[in-house]
Amino acid sequence: MEKYVIQGGKPLRGSVEISGAKNAAVAIIPAALMVRGVCRLENLPEISDTDTLLHILTYLGAKVNMINRTTVELDCTHVQMDTLPEDMWNLTRRIRASYYLIGAMLGRFGRARSTMPGGCNFGVRPIDQHIKGLTALGADMDVSGGFIRATAKNGRLRGTTIYLDKVSVGATINIMIAAATAEGRTVIENVAREPHIVDLANFLNSMGADVRGAGTDVIKIRGVKSLHGGAYTLIPDQIEAGTYMAAVAAAGGAVRVSNVIPKHLECISSKLREMNVEVEEGDDYVLVCRNGPLHPVNLKTMPYPGFPTDMQPQMTAVLCCAPGLSVVTEGVWNNGRFKYVGELKKMGANIAVEDQSAILQGVEKLTGAVVRACDLRAGAAVVIAGLAAEGVTKVEDVTYIERGYQDLVGKFRALGADIRCIEEPESEPVVNWNAG
Ligand code: EPU
Repeated sequence: MEKYVIQGGKPLRGSVEISGAKNAAVAIIPAALMVRGVCRLENLPEISDTDTLLHILTYLGAKVNMINRTTVELDCTHVQMDTLPEDMWNLTRRIRASYYLIGAMLGRFGRARSTMPGGCNFGVRPIDQHIKGLTALGADMDVSGGFIRATAKNGRLRGTTIYLDKVSVGATINIMIAAATAEGRTVIENVAREPHIVDLANFLNSMGADVRGAGTDVIKIRGVKSLHGGAYTLIPDQIEAGTYMAAVAAAGGAVRVSNVIPKHLECISSKLREMNVEVEEGDDYVLVCRNGPLHPVNLKTMPYPGFPTDMQPQMTAVLCCAPGLSVVTEGVWNNGRFKYVGELKKMGANIAVEDQSAILQGVEKLTGAVVRACDLRAGAAVVIAGLAAEGVTKVEDVTYIERGYQDLVGKFRALGADIRCIEEPESEPVVNWNAG
């Protein structure tokens, strides 16, 4: 069992290169199933979630050719399966993004069969908006016994107008993928506007689709007969960049966070400035520097362009040491997404959770402890806390972290952090698989 051991208290210095966006990659790889031809994807993050999806596509009959560590050529021309075979169920049940295979298979074959997806355990994660959208496109949907079965009436989906009752990243993506080759025009209203939604639209358009409006709250798709091959470079990961920015805020120091789109980081940069962290934007980098004491702040997560929920645990970790009162409110996930708070408390944090908010009273310092990564971003939060803490922190269950962060240990080590990955026997059984 891999664990991270961190000797905290060392300021971070130097430069870190941000990888491709995880949540774009996990949408674009399934979307490639729609394409007849070779899709060359560049700037793919080297993380276990993308490996899992590439493995599933290979099993379905796709040719997957790794050109280098972050470039892949994917050819799904000869895939004929519209059903995820039993051998793949442990993988489709492990990750959230496996449900995009439903949209893709339905769009390509008019039929799709898979398991319910997995994903971070934030309590109930309904998929009613996915079902609503795909049903409106003319699919008969059956969700029962842990499986999703979808069949397009007359073999092909038909464009229509869909209003999402809830702003959902996943539903927006699934409907966009399926509608790309539907007959006629689809209009999706009240959609998510995250950068990875725009990235997926750009990918689909590079492959011959006609998707407009991504990045606004209405997306219009004119269905095309089929998608053709092409090359596409993924955007950098907004949340990975934000995680390193938060780490500098917590541990102190000065770091150049490179290969980013500063516009995507604005809400994070502005919150960090409020916390007395200097953030200077360049064309494709941000310089982050923290010398003085942190200031407490209040923040509330919201769909993009609001403050991202996927940065909530990391920012809470930073605020543990901001003298005064901070309130962090979760506005996307109903159950607060605060499971990791217990881990930060083991390190001396003073946090109380009330409904959808974490109420923090900043402490002078955190102290190292044995903690676990409850899920992907919760894992990043305890690493950040460990980097800032006095003494040694041991982080368990790091497989969750490796699902979404490329070479986290190597990147922090290059910034001068004392962090290493060790192999040790498991201290307690792992109960859940968690992923974004
Ligand atoms: N919701 C519904 N019905 C639906 C779908 C969603 O009520 O059919 C609700 C959810 O319960 C939640 C809200 O809508 O309260 C937003 O959920 P959304 O569908 O936007 O989330 P998701 O697509 O399941 C993606 C990311 C998450 C990220 C959220 C919000 C992927 C693979 N996952 O999840 O990322 O937290 O959007 O931005 O893209 C992570 O990367 O760590 C991660 C968890």
